[in-house]
Amino acid sequence: MNGIVRADAPGKIILFGEHAVVYGRPTLAVPVMQVAASVEITTQPPNRPTGKPKNRSTGKLNLWLDAPDIGLSAPVEALLQQATPPPLAIAIRSVCQALGVEQPPRLRIRVTSSIPLASGLGSGAAVSVALIRALSAALGQPLPDEQVNALAYEIEKLYHGTPSGIDNTVITYARPVYFVRGQILQTFRVVRPFTLVIGDSGIAAPTRESVGAVRQLWQADPARWEKVFDQVAEIVEAAKNAIESGEVSRLGALMDENQALLQQMTVSSAELDRLVAAAKTAGAQGAKLSGGGRGGNMLALATPETAAAVAAALRQAGARNTIITTIDGGAAR
Ligand code: PMV
Repeated sequence: MNGIVRADAPGKIILFGEHAVVYGRPTLAVPVMQVAASVEITTQPPNRPTGKPKNRSTGKLNLWLDAPDIGLSAPVEALLQQATPPPLAIAIRSVCQALGVEQPPRLRIRVTSSIPLASGLGSGAAVSVALIRALSAALGQPLPDEQVNALAYEIEKLYHGTPSGIDNTVITYARPVYFVRGQILQTFRVVRPFTLVIGDSGIAAPTRESVGAVRQLWQADPARWEKVFDQVAEIVEAAKNAIESGEVSRLGALMDENQALLQQMTVSSAELDRLVAAAKTAGAQGAKLSGGGRGGNMLALATPETAAAVAAALRQAGARNTIITTIDGGAAR
């Protein structure tokens, strides 16, 4: 390749059904275009990586990784030799292996992202999707969405253990998704737009841990948790019907019901509960955590009139950041 190859991928937010989706129940999620991961790939001059430290070998893989957000600038080969290699280096190796490329040309891979890490907005999957698109194009084998999605899912498994696949799916296709693990992608119609306020608790909470905690509960008493997951599934179906029939005001109560079940699963937290309560006091019709939980983001159903007050209340209650977004059938903007 010559010059620069670049790929971007949006964030995502789960509206209803997180965690239960791991156990085969449906979930609704939408892309969030206000945040994105970007991967830029440039050729490096032979025998001389363009950045610091100069003249150091990039190893057999010939790849140099810059990820300034997490303080990485090193040959991928060297990163892979670390006791615990950074997930990004593993992801790069996975893409090369999947494409059957053993000795790539000298490339410099720069990864940046405005999606907060471990916060329920799909940062890991977005980086994977952008990386797969950019690297496969740079290696002369650009992949169709279906393969991008499949490979991103394989990489998600390295991070999460038992991911449902919702993140990579919504982010690859960048549209609203009704998702059931292992089933063909379905989208849903948004008849009447609705307004959400997303609040970031500022607490990084790895999804792997909360998914593991729910698994422990389920293993100890599968019958009880299967019932809870069935209740979540009913909420998801009711929410899909409400969105598809334009009765979006019904979503508030459904969010509250879903949040109560997530609390039972022990994946809420004092901070998330405080944000949920603050949003409702400021006029939100309902609110819940979103994603893995125990930190990360929550979302609240508002109206164009109440959204600013809800966002202000969330910041006052400790949210590090808020996003007001309209779900209108395309991506959340
Ligand atoms: O925290 P996030 O955005 O990665 O979402 C995780 C969603 C879960 O349902 C908790 C896990 C999964 O793999 O679907």
